Amino acid sequence: MSTRAAGSVLLRHLGPRVFGSVSSSPAAAPPRPLLALAGGGEWRGAAVWVRLLSTSAAEAKEEAAASKGNAGSTAAAKAEAVEAAKEGDGKKDKVVSSYWGVAPSKLMSKDGVEWRWSCFRPWEAYKPDTSIDLTRHHEPKVLLDKIAYWTVKLLRVPTDIFFQRRYGCRAMMLETVAAVPGMVGGMLLHLRSLRRFEHSGGWIRALLEEAENERMHLMTFMEVAKPKWYERALVLAVQGVFFNAYFLGYLISPKFAHRVVGYLEEEAIHSYTEYLKDLEAGKIENVPAPAIAIDYWQLPADATLKDVVVVVRSDEAHHRDVNHFASDIHFQGMQLKETPAPIEYH
Ligand SMILES: [Fe+2]
Ligand SMILES: [Fe+2]
Repeated sequence: MSTRAAGSVLLRHLGPRVFGSVSSSPAAAPPRPLLALAGGGEWRGAAVWVRLLSTSAAEAKEEAAASKGNAGSTAAAKAEAVEAAKEGDGKKDKVVSSYWGVAPSKLMSKDGVEWRWSCFRPWEAYKPDTSIDLTRHHEPKVLLDKIAYWTVKLLRVPTDIFFQRRYGCRAMMLETVAAVPGMVGGMLLHLRSLRRFEHSGGWIRALLEEAENERMHLMTFMEVAKPKWYERALVLAVQGVFFNAYFLGYLISPKFAHRVVGYLEEEAIHSYTEYLKDLEAGKIENVPAPAIAIDYWQLPADATLKDVVVVVRSDEAHHRDVNHFASDIHFQGMQLKETPAPIEYH
């Protein structure tokens, strides 16, 4: 039995005994009374979780069908449930607008306008340092660095063949990969911190910040280039391979893993520089910047795609430095936690 089905069955049987009218007709009581249930003891808490597990409109209707069935109209109720299931295919349950009954606070941007994004908050927006040195390169001298360098160079060959100079599409696709290493590294350091009862030196946060920053790059570029079905399929396959490869790589040698990311970021800087050249030459239309980019990077209202590429490129330069720095720490025989991480700087 699936978790959802189990939730429905539990709710049906325990509901009347635990909180009476709430479970007798869940479909007839929108919105779901989370606040009314909170604070009512252990069983109520369990029932809330049961209700949270059983979220779809179809299931709610099925529950209604079950109660009606007890009253002797099973066939009609089931027909209604089937109808609801058909409706549910097209539209999901409405999102509950409160969390334990606490209304979400209204956030304001610096301009005094109501904040329109739920995926990031006004204090997460920032002005990137575009004066960062874009030409810095870590010279591969030892064998491990050379392997990392040539691995990245080799990976660039199929990428160049596939995307050629379609930089909007290329950026969007590469950001789906770029957001993986920070999450994997951050997760592994998090687990290590738990296992060893030790501090992380801020590196968990630094790497997770990097992953989030890369994901915001993706959220921006998907406004500019819409992925086609075969590109989505490619992302699926690449993510499956890359996540596992990087996970294993980081377990075996974090210094190699960070070095690879350092070189990937160097390539990203190169790609965005080429993107800028095409924008400046008029080969790619310099469209207005997506609204999400204007708010995230605190760009002027009339910012264009070119401005977005400039700030994204400086983010990549920062990731390059962070990852080469992390690798250098390992090369010196130290753990990351021994050196404070560059946090709150994208
Ligand atoms: Fe990126
Ligand atoms: Fe990056």
